[in-house]
Amino acid sequence: MADVNHENFDSVVGRIVVERGLGTAQDVQRCKELQRQSIDESDTKGKSLASLLVEEGVITEGQLARLRPEMEKASGQQIPGYQILKKLGAGAMATVYKARQLSLDRIVAIKVLPQKFTKNPDFVERFYAEGRAAAKLNHPNIVQAYDVGKAGEFHYFVMEFVDGRTVFEDITSKGPYDEASAVRIGIEVANALNHAHERGFIHRDVKPKNIMISDDSGRTKLADMGLARAISDREAAEAEAGKAYGTPYYISPEQVRGEVGVDFRADIYSLGATLYHMVTGQVPFDGPNPSAVMRKHLNDTLTPPDHINPNLTSGIAEVVEVCLAKDRNKRYSSTADLLEDLQAIERGEPPLQARRVFDVNALSALEGASADSASIDVVHHQPGSGAAGPVLWAAVAGWAAAVFLLIVLVIVAVS
Ligand SMILES: Nc1ncnc2c1ncn2[C@@H]1O[C@H](COP(=O)(O)OP(=O)(O)OP(=O)(O)O)[C@@H](O)[C@H]1O
Ligand SMILES: [Mg+2]
Repeated sequence: MADVNHENFDSVVGRIVVERGLGTAQDVQRCKELQRQSIDESDTKGKSLASLLVEEGVITEGQLARLRPEMEKASGQQIPGYQILKKLGAGAMATVYKARQLSLDRIVAIKVLPQKFTKNPDFVERFYAEGRAAAKLNHPNIVQAYDVGKAGEFHYFVMEFVDGRTVFEDITSKGPYDEASAVRIGIEVANALNHAHERGFIHRDVKPKNIMISDDSGRTKLADMGLARAISDREAAEAEAGKAYGTPYYISPEQVRGEVGVDFRADIYSLGATLYHMVTGQVPFDGPNPSAVMRKHLNDTLTPPDHINPNLTSGIAEVVEVCLAKDRNKRYSSTADLLEDLQAIERGEPPLQARRVFDVNALSALEGASADSASIDVVHHQPGSGAAGPVLWAAVAGWAAAVFLLIVLVIVAVS
């Protein structure tokens, strides 16, 4: 889309209306004036000139519909039905534009894939199938997918426009999040994932750049849900070479290995890596290139997040560590469990599901210790937190029971 002709669609509309004698230059001028008044700074609420001409009775809906193809052609638009307004950003795989969907007069975001990714018929088939399926998902924390289509050589994905910023932008401009804000965002993303996972969707690319915060509502929106990828997760991660904070920082070990049958637990890992970055200001594993980072996801022991940021509660540290277990069987067994723990932390309560996972993992580690001690990959907490927590509670309960028994015996003896 680099060669999109940005000749203003509105000026084409105005010209054609006057040329056809449907309205005078003064009518068009008056509507342009109304349009200027209606456009706010980010022009998200601005009306199109075409719709104002209809509203003001200069042309009819029917006339507009008949003229639209000619107007689009004249303005050099490459995506029929949409007026490209500006470029919003570009990732490793695509470019995202802000656009106006003319039929509904609403602002949308359009992701346009470069031609090199759209030659593979298998990919194109997946792109449409997943895009259409995603359009049926509806959740306040998921960027709504609207449509997929092809214009000329380009395939595109139309979605809800989020007027806001990404978590990545927040971390780079303001540093780490405070725990409470990170937990709130984590809850909203976990809600989005839970909704998608229950319906058979896996995101595969949860990361700070794909989590947006709406400036208006403050709501968290998970982007790129249902966006098929042209290449493997590992290749996508490699493509991030030279880009700070790209995919390799959040990719799960099973995606690094290129395993088939990657499931919802890959998203749990990536959300854990994202939360880790949010609360410590550091990615879980860093290295000079994507391959080195990916090797660390496979082999290196995680530095517990509360060792980097001592202000963190042991609760959030436990949750993040369970998410980041290298063996997916040692992570949360459902996104609902993760959600439950994040909500518990928000209420100031301990993350019971994480503690259950720690206990199960500790047991199986003990059982398998003689057979294969290297298989233990859950990071052990310092005494007083994490895996030590339940043991401590058991000891306290034991002591309490003993003291109680003693008191009863003394009372019985005295009486
Ligand atoms: N729905 C949207 N509304 C508003 N802005 C968006 C939307 N989707 C994406 N963007 C902006 O466009 C940028 C590029 O998005 P894109 O998904 O192409 O790349 P990315 O997520 O940054 O990286 P990657 O290519 O690895 O997925 C984002 O960083 C964001 O700023
Ligand atoms: Mg994205």
